[in-house]
Amino acid sequence: MKQDPSILRDLFFSHVGQTSSSPLGIDIYKAEGVFLYSHQKRYLDFISGVSVSNVGHARKEVIDAIKEQADNYAHLMVYGELIESPQVLHAELLTSILPSSLDTVYYLNSGSEANEAAIKLAKRVTGRREIVACKNCYHGSSQGCLSLMDSEYFKNSFRPLIPMISHIEFNNPDSLDIITDKTAAVIIEPVQGEGGVQIPQSGFLEKLREKCSKVGALLIFDEVQTGFGRTGKMFAFEKYGVTPDMLTLAKALGGGMPLGALVTSNKLMSAWQTNPPLGHITTFGGHPISCAAALAALKLLLSESWVGEVESKSEKIVKTLAPHPLVKEIRNAGLLLAVDLADEEKAKKILYLLLDEGVITDWFLFQKTSFRIAPPLCITNEELEFGLEKVLSALDKLM
Ligand SMILES: Cc1ncc(COP(=O)(O)O)c(C=O)c1O
Repeated sequence: MKQDPSILRDLFFSHVGQTSSSPLGIDIYKAEGVFLYSHQKRYLDFISGVSVSNVGHARKEVIDAIKEQADNYAHLMVYGELIESPQVLHAELLTSILPSSLDTVYYLNSGSEANEAAIKLAKRVTGRREIVACKNCYHGSSQGCLSLMDSEYFKNSFRPLIPMISHIEFNNPDSLDIITDKTAAVIIEPVQGEGGVQIPQSGFLEKLREKCSKVGALLIFDEVQTGFGRTGKMFAFEKYGVTPDMLTLAKALGGGMPLGALVTSNKLMSAWQTNPPLGHITTFGGHPISCAAALAALKLLLSESWVGEVESKSEKIVKTLAPHPLVKEIRNAGLLLAVDLADEEKAKKILYLLLDEGVITDWFLFQKTSFRIAPPLCITNEELEFGLEKVLSALDKLM
């Protein structure tokens, strides 16, 4: 494989599809723990590949599981036909830490696919057609998930999309009136990620739960970004005390490998089997190597102290950055933080200043005055302090 960075760079721009005119374009040859290595520099990963690397990079337990599974078998057959131990053992462990109403896992490849499956299943089991989503939501880029967005800016070029979708406002209980006995499902991120870390106000998710139960609409929590310890509990729904009818997962689920999942009750999930049978099928969903990695990552999260330390690390970030004069607000749900500078230009610039300092951060799709901090949960206090010093220094440069 060609490793010369300048050749790789040329090939990257010539042959790898781009979605922006200014990708970061840093050549990474290795990642370990909370660091990414290019030929020029070491970078502190302050975003976990957007909430994926919760257990850090190249964690030995995950690599061993991948290697062992690769030695046994990779893909064998389309999803759900054969009994594959990585899927079965992962599903057993995952459901053992979930409420009994979430006892069955359907594996997919990504968060978008998990949400597609959830919406389809909700229509199938309720016989209803209307879906309610939330303003400023992000559930993925497939046509179904794009249809859930309210942002015309992102949607308009791709019409026609799925009809009969309407939107509530996050944290506005009055907007719940649009949920009726015609609503198949309400899909919501319990903490809005791309909306800039919007945190549910006390009582909002409870009222949403009540309304859904009252009209017979299914409640889907998209925990693609908030799952697996990110907010300080294994799942955000535990933190806010509201259990959904369906839970969608991806990102950190696979321990760095591609994997998505829809989790619901066995009763609801069995609807895939009839009318029509094979109601949702996938070739690679629940790939054995991804599931082996997922099992190792989940075991790590359950055995290490990282999830329990999320809140104190989050507080450390807030305490360190909040006093800086440029910081107007910090919205934090555990180690998912939006640092708001109340200034689009500055929020854009800081990412590049931090890259120069060797720290990778990110923006949000729908919140332009904030930048994102979401390090691997395994980050040590020393590594965190090192990163925060760099952030303070970049903020100083913006003054
Ligand atoms: C909350 C949420 N849902 C769904 C998705 C889509 O996941 P994927 O990119 O794996 O399709 C994302 C991705 O950022 C997300 O943040």
